[in-house]
Amino acid sequence: MKILVTGVAGYIGSITAELLIKNGHKVVGIDNLSTGHEDNINGLIEFHNIDIRDSEKLESVLGDSEAIIHFAAKTSVGESVSFPELYHSNNIEGSKSLLSTIEKAGIKILIFSSSAAVYGNPISLLINEAEQNRPINPYGVSKLETEKNISNLCSQGQLGAISLRYFNVAGALNTGKKWLSERHDPETHLVPNVISSTVDKPLKIFGTNFNTSDGTCIRDYVHVVDIARAHVLAIDKVITGENRIINIGSGSGNSVLEVLETAEEVVKRKIPKVFVDRRDGDPERLVADIRKALEILDWKPMYSLRDMINDAFQAKFED
Ligand code: UFG
Repeated sequence: MKILVTGVAGYIGSITAELLIKNGHKVVGIDNLSTGHEDNINGLIEFHNIDIRDSEKLESVLGDSEAIIHFAAKTSVGESVSFPELYHSNNIEGSKSLLSTIEKAGIKILIFSSSAAVYGNPISLLINEAEQNRPINPYGVSKLETEKNISNLCSQGQLGAISLRYFNVAGALNTGKKWLSERHDPETHLVPNVISSTVDKPLKIFGTNFNTSDGTCIRDYVHVVDIARAHVLAIDKVITGENRIINIGSGSGNSVLEVLETAEEVVKRKIPKVFVDRRDGDPERLVADIRKALEILDWKPMYSLRDMINDAFQAKFED
């Protein structure tokens, strides 16, 4: 199938594109390269430097694409609190513009990159898709609004969509030619920060007085290749007229200290750390119920936390 991927130069977009190609799909990729990296783009991709809001250019490259996988977005929770308007214009307005192009072009399949950030501070220990949506930052709001806009368009009958709500993504992919990995600037995520921790720049552990077994936050870590695989499977599971919402996580939680201990086993050294105050807006515990992903996509994660840390580590030091 010919598939248009937005945000193809980003972390998850580029790795998904690799898997699509491996599965025999033809990929047309767009990215405005504001945060993506051109060297992430596989030479087999027909690439265009286009912003999703530029509908004229987008229409001109859509051609006979049958499906769209939409990653292009601003993705930092902290930045969204400082600059909410960026998240409104890129994520909500940008996606709206993409949706009208999709409607005009008569595209029937959309896979959307959503986030567990839509849940905010959930009540349940294991979060299923029916949990109330109460995002606590503009990033989560932007993902939820876009899910709703997609559902509205689907209800008009032409489009079918799947919105994948990712939990904490980590790891990297070795394409055989190079590693594709997380390269954010500044980096705020735990796994890349753990592996780059040094005596001069120790890992900051945000908060030690959460109501968890060791006092640090619990998250559900899932390998980026497992996430990418969920997109490939989702393409065949779209139902016209519906936006199916599916959690993508590992189904189990690890505390910040457990991540650190696993990383110490992988890198075979002590990782320098300091305990500091809580970071604003960090929920205590986010763990996915992933039964729906198994039921609808026949998907379950293949990789462990150790694999994620190992791959992120190899990517950093081998490339
Ligand atoms: N943490 C540290 N030190 C660091 C970085 C993180 O202690 O240097 C802690 C955080 O306080 C948190 C945990 O590690 O408890 C995970 O933090 P991340 O920044 O790696 O990820 P978040 O849970 O904040 O957010 C991620 C994505 C969001 C997504 C969310 C869903 O960035 O887009 O997971 O679970 F919404």
